[in-house]
Parts: sequence; C-alpha cells; structure tokens
Amino acid sequence: MLDRFCSASTWERADAQWPSHEQRMLTCMRVCAETHDVRTFVFSTREGHFSFEPGQFITVSAEIDGKEVSRCYTISSPPTRPYTLSITVKRTPGGVMSNWLHENMREGVELKAFGPSGVFTPSSGPAAKSLYLSAGSGVTPLMSMTRAALDLGLNRDIVFIHSARTPEDIIFRIELSNLCALSDKLRVVHVCEALGSEPDWSGPVGRLSLDLLKEHVPDYREREAFICGPGGYMDACRKMLADGGHDPARYHQESFNFAETVECAEAPVAEASAEPAAQGGFTVQLARSGRSFTMDASQTVLVAARKAGVPLPSSCSQGICGTCKTKVLEGSVDMKHNGGIRPREIEKGMRLMCCSRPTSNLVLDL
Ligand code: FES
Repeated sequence: MLDRFCSASTWERADAQWPSHEQRMLTCMRVCAETHDVRTFVFSTREGHFSFEPGQFITVSAEIDGKEVSRCYTISSPPTRPYTLSITVKRTPGGVMSNWLHENMREGVELKAFGPSGVFTPSSGPAAKSLYLSAGSGVTPLMSMTRAALDLGLNRDIVFIHSARTPEDIIFRIELSNLCALSDKLRVVHVCEALGSEPDWSGPVGRLSLDLLKEHVPDYREREAFICGPGGYMDACRKMLADGGHDPARYHQESFNFAETVECAEAPVAEASAEPAAQGGFTVQLARSGRSFTMDASQTVLVAARKAGVPLPSSCSQGICGTCKTKVLEGSVDMKHNGGIRPREIEKGMRLMCCSRPTSNLVLDL
C-alpha cells in the first residue's frame, strides 16, 4: 500500500495528463479564507480531472497592469480529489500576483496555468516514517501529502511540525486537528514565534530548535524529512537536522526560493527592437512566430530574448519550475537545470530556456 503513495505512476491518469509545458484555463469554483491574509483558491478544469503528485506546483499567469505575470504556487489539495485543484496563497506586501489573486479571484473567474511540475514529492524519498517541517505558506505541499496519505487510508506515521508567527497565522489549523483525530499515526505540532491575540496558547513558543525537535520527535533520525518554507527557515532546518545527526540523504526540501521567483516574474521586459539583442555569437529563430534575435553564450536564451523584446514564458528563472520549457528544433544548448525538466522530456528535445546557453545557432518551437 505504501507503494501506491510513493510511486509517481500512481497519480498518472491516462485521461487527465497535463504536461508542465502546456497552458490550460482553470475556473475558480470557490475562495476560502484560511487566515487574515491567506486564502485558498479552488479551481476546476474543462478537461475534467487533474493529475499530479502531492508536493508539486503549478505556474499561474495573468495579465496585470498590461504585463503578463507568472508565479509558481504549490498545490495544497491532494491528487486523491482529482476534480478540483487548490492553491493556498498568502497576500504579501508588494506581491503583484498574490495581491491580484486576493482582489480578483472569485467564483467563475478564469486563470491560465502551466501543468504540474516539481520533484518535492513522497516518491522522491519513500519511507514508512516521515517528518514534515514547514513555515508560513510552506505548509501547502506538505498539506497535499498529508491529505493524500489519509485519503488513501495509509495510516502513515507522520509528524508534522509547522511554524507560524502567531496562533492566528496558523494555516489549516482546524483541518490538521481534525485529521489528527482521524489517524493515530499523524501528529501535528504548531510552533508560534509569539502569542499574538491568543495569550492562552498552550503550544511551543519561539522557533523550532533541535531541543524542541528531540522533545516532540525523539525518533527524528529514523524519519524521511520533507521541509518547505522561506529560504532562511529551510537553511536553519537543514543545519539543525545535520547537527542532530539526521542522515542528509534523507533530507528533502522544496527548492523554490519564493522571493526570487517574485523578482524574476516581475523583471522588466525590454521594448521590442529591430536591432539584435547582443552582438556576435548565435542566431535564435522562433519557428512559429517568425521572430529572431542574436546572442552570445554569456547569457541564457531567456535573458537574451527579454533584452531583444521577445517575451518567453517564464517564472522562476532558476531551472526549477519548468515554465520556460521549449523544444529545440535545431541546434544545441548547454543546460544546467535544477530539476525543472525530466529526462524523458530532454530526450524529446525539450530544454529550459532560463538555464540554457547556446552552443550553436538555434531554431526554437515558439
Ligand atoms: Fe522556471 Fe525556467 S522559468 S524553469
């Protein structure tokens, strides 16, 4: 039964494939307030079903103030409920997409999204005992994993430690409590930095520490660890576990850097120019649009395209999300990715433009 949860093929439904490079239209079915600044947006698809692994993310796009903005969000719903897909979004000050979603997403509103991607999934570290550590909206992929495990009736041994600023900032607080009541193998610990408006909070106060981990999860060294949250939090967790003698090979973290993602998504695109983007080097032709530009190998295809005024789909700009995946029809590139593309896609000639530099003239399927 454990295999059903851990195998990527479990979630592949022949009737519902949604490749990560394919953009589809989602329709908002419901908006739920999780906390004062976090909402869950529930979507349906014309294709009927969603197919993904728990822990994966999608890249949503919208035209905001005349510019196309893309942003990656991990999926909070489980693949065991395939008729809808949810993302849970914290409204961040200055966050273009998060504010737009909070202000505009209502029942019936449509949103474009690229298909699920990412390797932060249970199949990347099959184990009978897991340790989930999250902070803030990093709870979402671990919530998808937890919901999926319980929906499948696995009764897996999961300890889920979530850190929040105050008790009122805890996302999915009631649902996690209810899930604990359903499974004696799931334990949830909330750690709050401050009491906020709940002075009688009885849980741990402060930050997650090795002492606190040892107190609540004495067998943490036996567990496969999955961590998601802001970069500083994940760095601290990695160090804490290493200091505590946890096997680094059993450590998995979401490689997303949310802050950088926002920056990249909002990077200005140069005005279109009849002049090439860069002198010398290689010519890049876009087969479908008929456009072209030149560039040298000192920059990625994505950066050169932006400079030439040719906007390509992109989000993370770090080789993680897969949004910029493009088929190279002719020529070759040197690609250094971070897991945003699968071996079988590389075999088919796909490459990530944000982390590819040309080694010859190129013709792209764009
Ligand atoms: Fe995310 Fe290229 S933009 S992989």
